[in-house]
Amino acid sequence: MTNTPLSGRLALVTGASAGIGAAAARALSVAGAHVVCCARREEALEAVVAECPSAEALPLDVTDGAACAAALGDRAFDIVLANAGMAIGTSSLVDGDVSDWSRVIDTNVKGVLNTIRPVLSGMKERGFGHVITLGSVAGRQVYPGGNVYCATKFAVKALYEALRVELVGTGLRITTVDPGMVETEFSLVRFEGDKAKADALYDGMTPLTSEDVADAILWAATRPAHVDIGEIVLWPTDQASTTLVHRTSTE
Ligand SMILES: NC(=O)c1ccc[n+]([C@@H]2O[C@H](COP(=O)([O-])OP(=O)(O)OC[C@H]3O[C@@H](n4cnc5c(N)ncnc54)[C@H](OP(=O)(O)O)[C@@H]3O)[C@@H](O)[C@H]2O)c1
Repeated sequence: MTNTPLSGRLALVTGASAGIGAAAARALSVAGAHVVCCARREEALEAVVAECPSAEALPLDVTDGAACAAALGDRAFDIVLANAGMAIGTSSLVDGDVSDWSRVIDTNVKGVLNTIRPVLSGMKERGFGHVITLGSVAGRQVYPGGNVYCATKFAVKALYEALRVELVGTGLRITTVDPGMVETEFSLVRFEGDKAKADALYDGMTPLTSEDVADAILWAATRPAHVDIGEIVLWPTDQASTTLVHRTSTE
């Protein structure tokens, strides 16, 4: 395999302005793809694009289905990474905020649908394409306070499974990449800017980095066309489950 195995490929990455999406955009681009980087924050997107050998910024809110259809429908994407996602808080269901639930569901579930739908028919016509969803171990095991976020990630896993059964025979490949704890802006967003609370999550343990996850995405994307990597679950070595994390005392 050459060191630019994705040369000539067109990739779409949502949530490319930070964290896993930014690292994946860089990795796919270094491997030869031209990467269309989507997210809401234009300046952050431009900074990521500047680090990529071949990329462009496409400001887009994945909760806006009409905007996604208009922006993505006419492009011949070979790879789509539906990565944009978020959580808000860790309230129990009984204390949950209904408008927070809507934001999380709209972003994590409808956002994935809005991203994938405009590009799928073109991929089917061309008989080539790779859809990669960014799930989570939270889509496999619930944890206290995870409720709605976990439900959205279980839904992403269901969408991955639905795509597999609906697209078999078309030549398209479907992969879900499901990480455990990754140190990104995710926890800062979840705790609404409370950095001390976000940092405390990683006290005494070594989380995954965005680059670790991007590496798995790149590996899946660079297998030969007859090889479809289905599910990749990556854990930090210090994390055994969504509720069991080994921590060294920091005192
Ligand atoms: N970090 C973890 O521990 C972890 C573990 C497992 C799975 N995941 C999943 O990994 C994915 C990426 O998260 P991350 O950890 O990299 O978090 P992050 O650093 O907070 O990045 C999230 C990205 O999603 C984008 N985004 C959020 N809402 C959006 C919207 N409505 N439209 C377009 N883009 C939107 C953000 O960009 P803008 O704000 O600029 O729009 C940002 O680029 C998510 O699906 C998350 O659920 C994370």
